[in-house]
Amino acid sequence: MIRFLILLAFCASAYGADHNLFKNCTRIPFCAKLRDQTVDAASQFALDMMNFKKVGEVAYFSLINEKNEALQLQISLLKGNQVRIKIAEVNHSRHELVDALDGEPDIISIDNMIVMEDSISMTNSPSTINVTVQKGPPFAVVLYYGEGLQLMLNGNRLVMENSDDSKAFAFEVNFVGASKLYGLYHHAYKLALGKTADGSSDPFRLRNSDTAGYEVGSTMALYGSIPAIYGHSSNKTVGIFLNNAAEQWVDIDYEGDELTNGSAYFMVESGTLDLFLLPGPTPKDVVRQYTNLTGVAHLPQLWTLGYHQCRWSYMTQEDVKDVVANMVTNDFPMDAIWLDIDYTEGKRYFTWNPDNFSDPIEMQKNISYSGKKLVTILDPHIKVDEDYPVYVGAKDYFVKWANGTNFQGDCWPGLSSYLDFLNPEARDYYASWYSYEKFQGTTETLAGIWNDMNEPSVFDDSLEKTLPFETIHYGNILHRDVHNIYGLMQTKATHQGLMQRDNGTKRPFVLTRSHFAGSQRYAAMWTGDNTAGWDYLAISYAECLISNILGMVFCGADIGGFAGNPEPELLQRWYQAGAWFPFYRGHAENISPRREPYLYSKDVQEVIRNAIKLRYKHIPVWYTLFYEHTRYGDPVIRPLFYHYSELLELETHLLLGSDILVRPVVEAGVTSVAVNFPGTDEIWYRVDDESWSVHTGNTVENVIVTIKDSPVYYKGGSIIVRKDTEKLSTREMRDDPYTLYVNVDLNNSAEGRIYLDDYTSFDYLNNNQYLYMNMVYIPATRGLRFEVIDGDAEGLSPVIQRIVISEPTENVLGVRKTVYTTTSNGTALGDIDFVKQMRTLEGRDLILRL
Ligand code: GLC
Repeated sequence: MIRFLILLAFCASAYGADHNLFKNCTRIPFCAKLRDQTVDAASQFALDMMNFKKVGEVAYFSLINEKNEALQLQISLLKGNQVRIKIAEVNHSRHELVDALDGEPDIISIDNMIVMEDSISMTNSPSTINVTVQKGPPFAVVLYYGEGLQLMLNGNRLVMENSDDSKAFAFEVNFVGASKLYGLYHHAYKLALGKTADGSSDPFRLRNSDTAGYEVGSTMALYGSIPAIYGHSSNKTVGIFLNNAAEQWVDIDYEGDELTNGSAYFMVESGTLDLFLLPGPTPKDVVRQYTNLTGVAHLPQLWTLGYHQCRWSYMTQEDVKDVVANMVTNDFPMDAIWLDIDYTEGKRYFTWNPDNFSDPIEMQKNISYSGKKLVTILDPHIKVDEDYPVYVGAKDYFVKWANGTNFQGDCWPGLSSYLDFLNPEARDYYASWYSYEKFQGTTETLAGIWNDMNEPSVFDDSLEKTLPFETIHYGNILHRDVHNIYGLMQTKATHQGLMQRDNGTKRPFVLTRSHFAGSQRYAAMWTGDNTAGWDYLAISYAECLISNILGMVFCGADIGGFAGNPEPELLQRWYQAGAWFPFYRGHAENISPRREPYLYSKDVQEVIRNAIKLRYKHIPVWYTLFYEHTRYGDPVIRPLFYHYSELLELETHLLLGSDILVRPVVEAGVTSVAVNFPGTDEIWYRVDDESWSVHTGNTVENVIVTIKDSPVYYKGGSIIVRKDTEKLSTREMRDDPYTLYVNVDLNNSAEGRIYLDDYTSFDYLNNNQYLYMNMVYIPATRGLRFEVIDGDAEGLSPVIQRIVISEPTENVLGVRKTVYTTTSNGTALGDIDFVKQMRTLEGRDLILRL
């Protein structure tokens, strides 16, 4: 009987979310009310033209309606032409979120305020930005910037409830001219946001939830929330970000003849209307504006970019060592093995199960011997147990009821309390547990931490599996106001813990399930409990592409699918596709059969091995792109529209940086896939097979695939930096020589960049210890010019082993490949030592004659 029940429970979790448990809009009072609400003329607000002022560089306006209700509208212009708008009651007591932004944005001066009959405009003189408040009713705030798409906060649906029962508010933003809206993470929906305003589905919900068994194509809330939307047309992209971590629902609409006017109607349960307008005008600009506000990820350590092997759970230290040994023996590169909840003593985090993990230090020594790292899970719930020091010491630091007693709820350990990470002392306390002294049995091999269940998850269906919204955080803040930022605050504390543990010498690696805007500053993320099905493989591309344009660049999905049992074809395809996710981890739930790669037939193993090895060959590309993310805020992987404005909805294609096009096979049993080659003047070289066939841009081709093929292309005009040495971990490859792939375009040119440093520390940030170089192909001499863009090369000795030049033949369809190889020890290329050349260069510029 018990077995039968367990099976039933599994089926429920694996095949669809429970809509009884996770409510739709009609069952959430503020959503049900606001969704259908029309605002009558007497309730619509108008700008009071007689009553505005500028205090410092912030403009304040009064909004009034016929019912004599008043609101205050606050506008500031920000560096980089962004605009911040706040609307609230005068002298309001609404919660203002502080932790999402990467510091307070820089305000620039409002140089001109032009008062007209029915509007007031503000400009900053050197910029072309213009913000106009139209009188109304309804009032509107309109951002004009260059040609094309405009952004408008439209007062027609503004509602601000202010009673003891409700502080909910609603407002609409029009993206005038936008044929596609993207964003509102996290949903396993599609790349672009579809229309919901017609009631064809629920609005997009943002309420961080432990949504096991989540559905594909749904607007249901998942684990994280990023309340940002980009409006996109073929010639302009603009964006908004709502700095508010309360539960919210958003209806999307497209209107006009060609459905080219996207709009978003936000219904928010509480907190402040604190809206940022991002003027673009390109996708790249808008992403940079967004990351400028919410921050960037710091560089990851190199090992985190390798392959990770996980399962719920490796149950004993012998099992762990065995998996590592088998990966090595069977020639599968891997950088880290992961421990899920069962390594602990009764789910008491910061402890080890004394029977199954009796000697964790020896286990860590064993795996580090083969160059691998360990990552362990630590969840935010703390077991209620008077003999458990972490609990005893934390009693003042838990989330509380209004009467001051600690909230207690059920999670993995049984009855638990939840650390209040909004409390800086609680964060200090939690961080202190990561030290080698307190987290006993840990060594440097335990190099990363996995924060899970941090929505936070509480096993109580009546609460939609999370904390009651009336519980209280530090500073008397209602959980309702900050729900969506709980996970971010846990990762902030964990990040602090790892920084302290290693005295700031190592870049922390934290993986989180729950996240909010700004979480990229502390953690990588994965897409949670997906299922071993083809639609989950396909949607993971859209999931990680959207997270990337919303700042959360270090994204992955459980390879193979968390729940269920992937057939070998699906597993192989997932390893091939997943090699192009920034975070690359195989994971499976406790009741799915073991699926470490070496357990499969020789043929299947070979496909998986090749996929992982292809990932490792491109580690220098990943690392350089992560650096560029830290420097500019750019996404690491990109949807095609990011570089090719007209390619709006290609969900199964991605660009790694700008130069690698990936079209994985995410369909079962196919013998060909349609590949969209973007760019009218581009050519693309196929690189995942021996052919190196050339394909012209602006075409769609049906490409034949066998199970061995997962099409990948280099753009003509690029130089791709690889390490082709095939080792079993990034540590082993660390000092290996590079191979440069020079992929010439139709103009006979090629260019690329490379970034290097010590791969571990913050010296790149603090001491300029890095090398960021541009490489240009010089066709006349068939040479390469290396220009140092930035950084200090001292101590870094990159060596080039091979240079492979690919050129299209006269009729474009063929390719001519020329391979130049260095001497066997990789020191010389045509008698020229790369390192020496670099150092002796005048003006740090080098022609390498091949
Ligand atoms: C959650 C996580 C999953 C993990 C499991 C046990 O379901 O999403 O990845 O394996 O908890 O810790």
